[in-house]
Amino acid sequence: MSDRIRVAAEEDIPQDEGLVIPKALTGADDDIALFKDDQGCIFALDNTCPHEVASLAEGWVEDGYVECPLHSSKFDLRTGEAQSLPAPRGVNVHRVEVHDGEVYLYAGERP
Ligand code: FES
Repeated sequence: MSDRIRVAAEEDIPQDEGLVIPKALTGADDDIALFKDDQGCIFALDNTCPHEVASLAEGWVEDGYVECPLHSSKFDLRTGEAQSLPAPRGVNVHRVEVHDGEVYLYAGERP
C-alpha cells in the first residue's frame, strides 16, 4: 500500500483533458495524469501512451475514455484498458480520493 499524496485541488483538473503529476513527486514509474469525467469523477492513469510515447493528458476525455492525441487509441478511465488500436496494451490506473476539494493520489495502488 502506498502513501497518499495531496496532488491537486479538484478545481485544478480540467473537464476535458488531463493534469500531469510528475513521477518525481509520486515515486511512480511514469508521470500520472489526472482526469475528470462528465460526472466530475476523478481518475488517475499512467500518462504515457504505450504506443509511441504520447502524453495522454493532452488527449480528450469523453464518455469515460481518454483518447490519445497522437493516434486516437482510447483508454478506459476506470480500468486503463486500451479499447482500440494501435495501442498494444492498456496503462496502469491508480487510486485517487477527494476530500474537501483536495485530490489525494495513492500511486501504484489500484482503485
Ligand atoms: S501514441 Fe498513442 S496511439 Fe499512438
